[in-house]
Amino acid sequence: MAASILQEHIKRINKAAGNLSESLLDSGHPIDSLSGVSTRKLTDSRLETRAEVSRLALIDTCYELLEHLTRPEDFLKFSIPIVSDQRSLSISSGLMKFKTIQFNSAMAVIVHFEFAGKVPEQGHISFEELAKRTQLHVEKVQRILRCTVAYRVFCEEPLGYISHTAISKCLLNPGLKAWLGHQFEEMLPSSAKLIDAFEMYPGVDDDTETAFSVAFSGQQRTTYWEVLQKTPWKVKRFCDALEYISTSGGAGDFRVLISCYDWKKLGGCKLVDVGGSTGRVSIAIAEIADPAMEFVIQDLPEVEAEALNTIPEPLSRRMVFRPHDFFKPQPTLDARVYMYRQILHDWPDGKAVDILVALIPALDPGDYLLLVETVQPDPQTLPNSVERLIYAADLLMMAKHNSKERTLGMWKDLLRRASPNFVLENVISPENSGAQGAIIEIRWWP
Ligand SMILES: C[S@@+](CC[C@H](N)C(=O)[O-])C[C@H]1O[C@@H](n2cnc3c(N)ncnc32)[C@H](O)[C@@H]1O
Repeated sequence: MAASILQEHIKRINKAAGNLSESLLDSGHPIDSLSGVSTRKLTDSRLETRAEVSRLALIDTCYELLEHLTRPEDFLKFSIPIVSDQRSLSISSGLMKFKTIQFNSAMAVIVHFEFAGKVPEQGHISFEELAKRTQLHVEKVQRILRCTVAYRVFCEEPLGYISHTAISKCLLNPGLKAWLGHQFEEMLPSSAKLIDAFEMYPGVDDDTETAFSVAFSGQQRTTYWEVLQKTPWKVKRFCDALEYISTSGGAGDFRVLISCYDWKKLGGCKLVDVGGSTGRVSIAIAEIADPAMEFVIQDLPEVEAEALNTIPEPLSRRMVFRPHDFFKPQPTLDARVYMYRQILHDWPDGKAVDILVALIPALDPGDYLLLVETVQPDPQTLPNSVERLIYAADLLMMAKHNSKERTLGMWKDLLRRASPNFVLENVISPENSGAQGAIIEIRWWP
């Protein structure tokens, strides 16, 4: 690497770090330690927009320097991006450098055998004692941990004793545990089967021809939803994982997104939350919408028990759960608004069109269809670290469902295929979200 390029990077890092500390000082945010070994960390609390933009810019600049310092061959050897593991990237952004397959599999073991809860929150524990608590061979415990300690997930100090770091403490959060469990035990094996799925199935529009299906039922085709139907504890874990990823800050946080939409303009109408899971999004909307707005949460029957546990008592008069398969004609005819959040991105184009067509018999002129989804931006228009997540999320959809994240043009095509009477009127997204989370406002104008 030429000295002048190195100097140039150092200048840019200095500048980006200066911007970050200035915006932190301006917003009165304490400058916490960035170190994963610390028990406090900068990302613990939400930053205001300018500080957040500066934080991402600094991460990007550091990544660029790392990439310039890395031999091209080493980058390929040691960076194995098979896991669409958004969350672990963001909890440890900037610290992870390159994650190997072995690091990811060590993390899978740590999450599955609940190492984090077995290491004391204060002080340390010997490998032998941890082996007893996890009921694993001490040699396995030691080798797994040496791999993750190198990434600052736990700390070995003094040698032979394990204590927590800021990163490993995050694993105590049950929501993050559910998210990582889903990623490591379902998405990691699925992503590893992309090659087999490509070899077995040439098409792109069949939700049984997926890497997930190959990983979990070999030659016999299945879908993620069929597996959930047979495994109630996976339903709970998936609900908890969604709850966590949707409420843990950043562009995926639906509370930020829904605060950008004028719900009051809809008045005291009825809103159907199609595929609404436990109703968490509608519960948040109920707080900011017209107090007379009523909600119908629809999802598969196996979600009902979780939903009934989630809907708070004060809302029970305004919010009901109704089992409904969204491929069947929409049974709630008197609603003004039909909302689908992160539903169509789970389905290939043909099935996504079927879902929209099943809604049509319920629609009156002027009714609202709200698609709460990613609008994938044009390539190379966002910071590189954000692009990595956006395209990883797209491949996650491919491996799991043979589905996809869509650009605005793709959303328009899908609507046109369902009916020309779906008129896209508005796309609302929070500032700086890169439209990772957007509300696509569509009206029915026959
Ligand atoms: C990615 S989740 C989104 C959940 C919710 N809208 C949210 O944003 O939190 C997809 C949801 O679709 C539901 N689902 C899958 N197939 C369905 C079907 N045929 N009919 C109704 N719901 C279905 C799942 O149970 C799950 O709750």
